[in-house]
Amino acid sequence: NGFFTYDPGFVSTAACDSAITYIDGGKGVLLHRGFPIDVLAEKSDYLESCYLLLHGELPTAEEYEAFKRTITNHTMVHESMHQFFEGFHHNAHPMAKMCGAVGSLSAFYHDDLDITNEKHRITAAYRLIAKMPTLAAMCYKHHVGQPVLYPDNSLGYAENFLRMMFGTPCEDYKVNPILAKAMDRIFLLHADHEQNASTSTVRLAGSSGANPYACIAAGIATLWGPAHGGANEAVLQMLEEIGTEDNIDAYIEKAKDKNDPFRLMGFGHRVYKNFDPRARVMKKTCDEVFAELGVENDPLLRIAKRLEKIALEDPYFVEKKLYPNVDFYSGIIMKAIGIPTDMFTVIFAVGRTVGWISHWHEMISQGTRIGRPRQLYTGYAERDYVEVKDR
Ligand code: CMC
Repeated sequence: NGFFTYDPGFVSTAACDSAITYIDGGKGVLLHRGFPIDVLAEKSDYLESCYLLLHGELPTAEEYEAFKRTITNHTMVHESMHQFFEGFHHNAHPMAKMCGAVGSLSAFYHDDLDITNEKHRITAAYRLIAKMPTLAAMCYKHHVGQPVLYPDNSLGYAENFLRMMFGTPCEDYKVNPILAKAMDRIFLLHADHEQNASTSTVRLAGSSGANPYACIAAGIATLWGPAHGGANEAVLQMLEEIGTEDNIDAYIEKAKDKNDPFRLMGFGHRVYKNFDPRARVMKKTCDEVFAELGVENDPLLRIAKRLEKIALEDPYFVEKKLYPNVDFYSGIIMKAIGIPTDMFTVIFAVGRTVGWISHWHEMISQGTRIGRPRQLYTGYAERDYVEVKDR
């Protein structure tokens, strides 16, 4: 009818219907296919939750075994990908490499893909879930100049990833099971979060009929920003910069200062106006990892906990309902695992891949229209062209 609503930042616009993830931001509730995130973190694991997100139900024992077998079938990437990585500067940010590497999968798996065929869509989803850890580890190995390790399909998802990250051909690398469990939980806690910026990007890209590998690459690009997935990297940098508990107050004041662009990283959320339930699980996981590793009084964890306490009592953060989000504690755990800071957002991308591809699959199944936002035009009315000699 010619009327449309103006909603910059999509604060109050629902652009789709979805049965995958439910969030009640006021109450701090997050459900995947009806199951609370803390229950999944406690009782499920990443791959089972992938099945749940993608297929809508928890798998039976047989379905789960078959799913794991299929995922492990797809863990390798085409050998040409090794040369592809050689094209990057070794010092490039791993997220830059991930955007390129994942986008390039369309060059290998595009021709036989019919996105209108459900089986093809599921195969693309399985390929992506399986290959993301391999590509993420390749980014890291390329950066440190070590040979790439092929996946070991006898290992679990997170265990295999950690072996590809830290193992070398010279030794029989054994992954610490405590760290593998923590890694798996980090993947799970990042698996989906309904219509966040990167998922919306994947949906918008996919709405044109673009192939899923290119759509996921678009999601990775969106995730990179510090307001979104890049926040986990920024949190750790902030905690290291704060350095000692004495400096916390100054950073709190900086975050409150309207004339200073600095924000408390890992705090605040568009939807949660209460605790982010993922942050609660992440904090608990952090304590468990340090306890099991026998690390007492980790300086970064101490600063993070103190910072959280001060912020939660400060009227600025209380009035604006700013609570710790998923990124606040994840970096501290990843650091304990030995993952370098610039790989943190890559880890987020690995975990989120199932969410992106589940939304893409759901959208295509629904038979969507191309996404095409409107605008309020604020430029010139029609005017006369002025010849260059007269300007
Ligand atoms: N520190 C200080 N002030 C903040 C913060 C913060 N972390 N977050 C929001 N505010 C203030 C903001 O200045 C604004 O104040 P005012 O109303 O006086 O202008 C008010 O709170 C509302 O903020 P907003 O920017 O309008 O809220 P938004 O929904 O557009 O942005 C956000 C949400 C997550 C981008 C923002 O809270 C932020 O920048 N947080 C820090 C970055 C971060 O941790 N991002 C990870 C998000 S969770 C995981 C993910 O999505 O990847």
